[in-house]
Amino acid sequence: MKIFEGKVALVTGGGSGIGRAVVETFVKEGAKVGVLERDEKKLEALNQLAGDIVAVQGDATTCLDNKRAVEQTVARFRRLDVLVTCVGVWDFNVALQDFPEEKIDDAFNEIFNVNVKSFIHSTKAALNELIKNEGSIVYTLSNSAFYPAGGGPLYVSSKFAVRGLVAEMAYELAPKVRVNGVAPGGTLTNLGGLRSLNQDMNLSNIPGIKELMQGGNPLQKVFIPEDHAWTYVYLSAKELSPGVTGVVINSDGGLGTRGIGKVAGLL
Ligand SMILES: NC(=O)c1ccc[n+]([C@@H]2O[C@H](COP(=O)([O-])OP(=O)(O)OC[C@H]3O[C@@H](n4cnc5c(N)ncnc54)[C@H](O)[C@@H]3O)[C@@H](O)[C@H]2O)c1
Repeated sequence: MKIFEGKVALVTGGGSGIGRAVVETFVKEGAKVGVLERDEKKLEALNQLAGDIVAVQGDATTCLDNKRAVEQTVARFRRLDVLVTCVGVWDFNVALQDFPEEKIDDAFNEIFNVNVKSFIHSTKAALNELIKNEGSIVYTLSNSAFYPAGGGPLYVSSKFAVRGLVAEMAYELAPKVRVNGVAPGGTLTNLGGLRSLNQDMNLSNIPGIKELMQGGNPLQKVFIPEDHAWTYVYLSAKELSPGVTGVVINSDGGLGTRGIGKVAGLL
């Protein structure tokens, strides 16, 4: 029997990167999956995947599009058990000293809308179905929800904010719904920058990015999205983690155990 046999999940930002790996792994494990994604081309690619997937084009920062995604998923698959939020934008480490002051308002609104507000809208839209089915929620955080320097002040503060959301929603939704998070470390994806800063680039194209990632964590990992997918499976499935709520799993190569002087003992 597959882990998600008979279960239905909604993944926001499931069109690429970590979200797409979650979609593929969930489908392989028997889930029927709804995806809310803003990029049309990624949606077309999702529709080519084998499995029961309903791909909804929309903006996860809006109440309306999240409601549409939940409605279409439930209309097609008759229920919803799991919500996974994987949308996100990065700030490419722009430090406050280098920030043009006239850009702070727009950049703050953009990053908090996507990285924080969208999670709240997705949760609100899925709430009643998840309570009915005693389901679970998994939010995507980051090493930047725990440590500095994986982003600038906007990205890091937006990811710390999601730790608050994990705690509050786990409290509010107990005993019916478990709420947890995954905090991936640096991962080779096309994570994009802020339109308000004209950051028309993606993470994988940063020169020397692999070496930078590898040298920064004790396990010397250069992660690909699939490396995190089973952490989402574990936290989502009632059968695998029935007693786990309000927790964030760090899937980051051991950033919390970096030594002083050298990153890892055997380096
Ligand atoms: N790549 C990394 O190094 C890394 C590390 C830690 C955490 N994360 C987090 O992982 C999550 C996934 O990022 P990724 O690296 O897979 O990048 P990605 O860009 O491949 O995935 C994000 C997806 O969300 C979609 N999206 C963005 N804004 C949206 C919106 N408003 N509405 C609907 N869809 C939207 C994008 O089109 C994309 O498909 C993000 O929350 C990111 O902050 C990434």
